[in-house]
Order: sequence, then C-alpha cells, then structure tokens
Amino acid sequence: MANDIKDIRMASSGKSRIQWADSMMPVLRLIRNRFSQEKPLKGIKIAACLHVTSETANLARTLKEGGAAIRLSASNPLSTQDEVTASLVKDYGIDVFAVRGENKKTYYSHIHSALDIGPHITMDDGADLISTIHSEREDLVKEILGGTEETTTGVIRLRSMAKEGVLKYPIIAVNDADTKHLFDNRYGTGQSTIDGILRATNILLAGSVFVVCGYGWCGRGIAMRARGMGAKVIVCEVDPLRALEANMDGYLVMPLIEASTLGDIFVTSTGDRSVIAGEHFKRMKDGAIVANAGHFNVEINLNDLEKLSLERKKIRRDIEQFKLKNGKKINLLAEGRLVNLAAAEGHPSGVMDMSFANQALSCEYLAKEGKSLGKKVYEVPEDIDRQVAQLKLKSMGIKIDKLTQEQKDYLSSWKIGT
Ligand code: ADE
Repeated sequence: MANDIKDIRMASSGKSRIQWADSMMPVLRLIRNRFSQEKPLKGIKIAACLHVTSETANLARTLKEGGAAIRLSASNPLSTQDEVTASLVKDYGIDVFAVRGENKKTYYSHIHSALDIGPHITMDDGADLISTIHSEREDLVKEILGGTEETTTGVIRLRSMAKEGVLKYPIIAVNDADTKHLFDNRYGTGQSTIDGILRATNILLAGSVFVVCGYGWCGRGIAMRARGMGAKVIVCEVDPLRALEANMDGYLVMPLIEASTLGDIFVTSTGDRSVIAGEHFKRMKDGAIVANAGHFNVEINLNDLEKLSLERKKIRRDIEQFKLKNGKKINLLAEGRLVNLAAAEGHPSGVMDMSFANQALSCEYLAKEGKSLGKKVYEVPEDIDRQVAQLKLKSMGIKIDKLTQEQKDYLSSWKIGT
C-alpha cells in the first residue's frame, strides 16, 4: 500500500470523526450496504481528487465496499483533515496522498501518485485531476471509462474543454444534479462559510455590513445565512437576472466599488479571478475582513494587496493582517483559499450525504455505461437525482403526497380546461 500522509498515529481520532460524519449520512450508508452485497465496482480502479474530509472518507469507504480500488489526493492544499487521512490508511486500507498545508509541488505530485493507480474512473472537485491527465498523462486515457466532477468551477472548465473538442472522455457533472447544487452549494456553503469566518475571527456578525460577491447558489446561501445572523447584506453581481433576484430577495445591490467603502466583511463566491482587487482594497475601511468561498484562490487579488501593503503578519491561525500604505489594515482569511474548508470543516455531513450519494451512484453508472458514452459533459441521470431525494426524505422520516390518477391525467392532457 502506498500513501503520503501527515501522521498515522492520528488514526483513532480520525476514525471517530469519520464515524460521527457517517451517523449523519444515511443515504450514503444505504448505498454502501447495497454496494457491499452487489459489488458493482468490482475490478474498477478510481483516482479521486477531493477535499479529504470525514465526509469524503465515507464516500471512499462506499466505493471500496462496492469493490473498487481507490487512491485519494486533495483538491485543495488547505482542506485536508490529517486525522482523517490517518484513519483512511490505517482503518480502511485506502491509499491517500494528502497533507494539510502541502505546497504546490507536493499538491501536484500527490495528484500524480493518485493517477498512478491507472484509473478507470476519475473523480474531481475542481478538475485538477482531469487537467493533469489531459496535459501530462494522456497515456492513461485509453483505460478511462469516465469521470465525475463535484463543483461548479470544475464543470465550467470541463464544459469549455468539451466545447473546444479537447475533452477525451465522458464526464458526469455531479454538481448540476438538483440534489447537489440546490442543497450543498446553497445550504452547505451558506453554513460552512459563516462557520469558517467565525472560527477564524470570532467576530460579531449582528449589525455588521456583509458584502457577498456573486449570487449563484453559493452566494445565495452565504447571503441568506449572514442575514440570519443579523448582518446587513450587500450583494454585488454582474448578471442582471441574479442582481434582480438579489434585490427582490431583499438585499442591497450595488457595484463592488461602492460596496468597498461600506463593508466590514467581504466574501467572494463567483468562480472568477481578481474580483476584489487594488481599487477595492484602497477604499476599504480600516480592519475590513476579506475571505473567499470560491473554489480557487484567484478571486481575491493578492498581488494587488501585497503591492499596496507595507507589511503582512499572521495574527491568528487563519488571519493575515496587511498594513496598507494608506495606514489602514485589511485582514485576509485562510490565504484567500476556500474559507469554509480551510478555516472550518467544509459543509456539514448531512448535506454532503446527498452530494456523495450522487457521486457513488454516478460511479456505478459509469462502470456500467461509461463505454457507451461520448466525450461530453453529461447530467447525472434523472432517476439517480430523484432516488437521492427520495432516500433523503425517507431518512428524515418525511412523507409526501402522491398524484391521483385523475391528477396525472389532467397534467398530461392539453384538452381539459376550465
Ligand atoms: N466540499 C465542501 N464541503 C465538503 C466536505 N465537508 N467534504 C468534502 N468536500 C466538501
């Protein structure tokens, strides 16, 4: 067994974290129980590049129970939970290559180690595995049945590869399943981003001015939860529809350049680069807090921030303070990386349950159908998405109504009017 982790002696606390998460992942558990009987992934090798958390550990266990061999690397240098890696290796016999705080070189060498399994299926959160295969490990493509992608940013990259005709194998966009983005992106990111900001700073949100850049599903969740804590929320958007929606959801909407002078806390969640840049930093209040909840650390322009600064110092575990030439201080959280995973534990298990149920079932689908698919980005099959919703409701003890035959007929007919 190969691995590169921080310290195997952390395994016992990792195991209890994994079990705690498992207790809130009933849908994934059901799938794991079925997988262990049916072994739908027998003989399948999987390379996965995901945030190595206790929730991901339960996904890895599920794939292994299904008969797969799996190698796991991190999809962000700061999101790895080292106790979890130790337990995955020691207690569950899964190969892991991830150490919290690893540098860029190690990050990519770990991706290569995961790929050395010679995967039939790749699993990505941000498409770094797939990009590496396409740019450096093309020899692996011939064995690959397909891949899955967990996040909006990754799906955007993959759709652009498909559009340019360079995508070399089929991808299932797990992010786009309703049971993924409507819950994970909105309620998961909403809660975990606030959690990350609070763990990093312990600030009082009530009465603060909280600026959210980007009103996609993640931004909607962050804005909703910040308001719930009593903050006055400003939304900055480039898309007119989303801006209108934010306005009617009751937020103030304005360009970031205007919000810059007003905000106490700024969070980016756009998927694009250089969203908060020099012109914004210059206008910010003394003591402003800046954090990112988007996948890559490109949303906050750190070069600009450095250029404007006289000094930079670490003042708490996840806070670096920049002293600007204009005398003001700006506090950057978690190096501008995903604040919810770097400063907290990522999304709660209860929501990752659905995301990872989609991942596990999409893997099963690829193992069966991958050979017949084209080099495109596919949606998660609708029956999988619905099945996840039904199982989640059932696990919550929630029953819902059924259409009568009369109602079904009415919905399928265009002839019946008033
Ligand atoms: N992405 C966001 N939260 C996560 C979590 N808890 N585990 C894995 N991936 C995540």
